[in-house]
Amino acid sequence: MTSTALLKQTVETIEWTPDGVVMIDQTKLPRETVFVTCRTYREMADAIRNMVIRGAPAIGVAGAMGVALGVLESEDLDTEIPVICDTLARTRPTAVNLFWAIDRMKNLYDSIRTLPLPEIRNRMVAEAKLVREEDIAINEAMGANGAPLVPDGKTVLTHCNAGALATAGFGTALGVIRAAVREGKKIDVFVDETRPFLQGTRLTAWELQRDGIQTTIITDNMAGHFLKSGRIGCVVVGADRIAANGDVANKVGTYSVAVLAKENNVPFYVAAPISTLDLTLESGDQIPIEQRPEKEVTHLGGVHLAPEGVSVANPAFDVTPNRYVTAIITEKGVARAPFNKSLRTLCEKG
Ligand code: MRU
Repeated sequence: MTSTALLKQTVETIEWTPDGVVMIDQTKLPRETVFVTCRTYREMADAIRNMVIRGAPAIGVAGAMGVALGVLESEDLDTEIPVICDTLARTRPTAVNLFWAIDRMKNLYDSIRTLPLPEIRNRMVAEAKLVREEDIAINEAMGANGAPLVPDGKTVLTHCNAGALATAGFGTALGVIRAAVREGKKIDVFVDETRPFLQGTRLTAWELQRDGIQTTIITDNMAGHFLKSGRIGCVVVGADRIAANGDVANKVGTYSVAVLAKENNVPFYVAAPISTLDLTLESGDQIPIEQRPEKEVTHLGGVHLAPEGVSVANPAFDVTPNRYVTAIITEKGVARAPFNKSLRTLCEKG
């Protein structure tokens, strides 16, 4: 993996180039705008694991492109494809988009495996690029479906980063906010800092500021105070996996925000593509929750703040029970309770 500290005109989260897959390094933003190039599927697996790229739809695209890199490296695909897919799938367990994208690439391979190798390679690379293009279009559609739900003249609260950086472009939750602003709504955004990785402070605030959308960072523990104040018109967040009953896994801290939103009669919206639905799981209890390194909690900006030897817990996600979710916004429409029925209906829609 190589890095370039080159400032591009428009910042792309992830791009397929003749030199490899180029991604903006999200561990360094906003202090440094550095691009990394992955040329092998193993480099891509490391980039996903280390959160150089993160966010459910974005790691889906990265997974698809990682498989395509592996296909370019390999001379014996029948042997190598399972290894490539397994290596990429073992990086992060919660966001189902990663597995969805890897399965999509694997299924394509199974259907074309008797073709000549150069043709298989071309088709697999084209599919990975298509996953990226489709994601941008899906986010635009989600934005159009969600924008009418955002109250005019109020503040929107969001948690983590569900923006262009967490997707191939435009964003899920931030896509809804962007679409509402485009429609002429006068809104501003409160951004939870999102400890411990600070996706809110570092990434969401950076994105919204670049768009000229009025943005205020709050620490996570301030959310209740502002939800009670009457200032917040709605909460919009993304998701990493949604079970058949509408339980939502998203960045840790989302559950607390959802409970506080309900307590204060503030609508709580989740914006996510259909590829984030996992209808094989009956409820959120079955969603695997990633445990991340202790250092993310004990250190801040590289400085060790906690006492030596203290125990640390660092679940990266939590599950919000469906009773706290006002609606789930997808590219195919908006689902409301009972989610078991409404999510299936959306999935079956052409
Ligand atoms: O650990 P991360 O940064 O990958 O977690 C990201 C989130 O939880 C996002 O809210 C979610 O993936 C939705 S992104 C459109």
